[in-house]
Amino acid sequence: MSHDDENYVLGYGDGAMDWMRSRTVDVHGAFVLPYLEPGGSLLDCGCGPGSLTIGFAQYLSPGRVVGIDRERAQMAAAIAWAADHGVENLQFETGDVYSLPFEDACFNAVFCSAVLGSVSRPAAVVREMVRVLKPGGIIAMKEFDHGGDIVYPQTPQLVRSIELYQRVRAEHGHESRGGRRLREWLHDNGCHIEHSHAFFDQRTAATDLPDYVDRNNRLIDEVLATRYIELGWATRAEIDEQARDWERFARDPVSLYAAAWVEAVGRKPAEGYGRKPAEG
Ligand SMILES: C[S@@+](CC[C@H](N)C(=O)[O-])C[C@H]1O[C@@H](n2cnc3c(N)ncnc32)[C@H](O)[C@@H]1O
Repeated sequence: MSHDDENYVLGYGDGAMDWMRSRTVDVHGAFVLPYLEPGGSLLDCGCGPGSLTIGFAQYLSPGRVVGIDRERAQMAAAIAWAADHGVENLQFETGDVYSLPFEDACFNAVFCSAVLGSVSRPAAVVREMVRVLKPGGIIAMKEFDHGGDIVYPQTPQLVRSIELYQRVRAEHGHESRGGRRLREWLHDNGCHIEHSHAFFDQRTAATDLPDYVDRNNRLIDEVLATRYIELGWATRAEIDEQARDWERFARDPVSLYAAAWVEAVGRKPAEGYGRKPAEG
């Protein structure tokens, strides 16, 4: 199966882009930084709109940083940003993470965030990431795990909305519980597991839950609602009702939305690159 058959479910509308662009290396990629050395090279697989890729390029300068994604249009703003700021160690390429257009063993570090839960053969993607990694190099991955999410309190409409989202992912053969499997994928590809950490990304009405729900509702409207209706799983009226319940949920002071994530770092066997952070 090529990536074209996989039907990436989140799409590339404003809601999806706002979601990805909100991620920065300082927060979302902070777990990787202790393993990187400025001057080293890094490949960001499934880089989306590139906010994390830009952060890595700044951190690793003058090391070469490449972002690769199947959908070029979403990278346009990041490409323009790099040109405007004269950032020369950063490049973006269009390509498939199942078949990376690079020779074996050519990057010091390979990274991917929120990609392995959106492909049907994540273990094959990890194998390909390890292929392009230099011996002794670092592979760092971050993935959600929808099996661990806490959404409280739930109305029947919210339960239904969550079920639809999980079902559409399953329909495409995507692993919506990928976070718990990162260690397994590293181990199965012969990497030494250097670090893993499971945590919740918590949102409440007092913080950014209303913004988060607004982005999610837009994302559902942009692509998912059409899929649900085409597949005969829900009507437009039901989806609108679910969106209203999410809006009420977002304003309720007792609401808790905690998304489960796992991050993991592995090393391809052999000495030579990166430094192991101090214990403790
Ligand atoms: C949820 S987004 C994550 C973007 C970014 N890594 C982040 O964390 O913000 C997933 C990205 O993976 C890309 N993607 C999915 N399947 C792919 C494939 N087979 N090859 C290349 N990119 C792919 C999508 O185009 C999308 O940009």
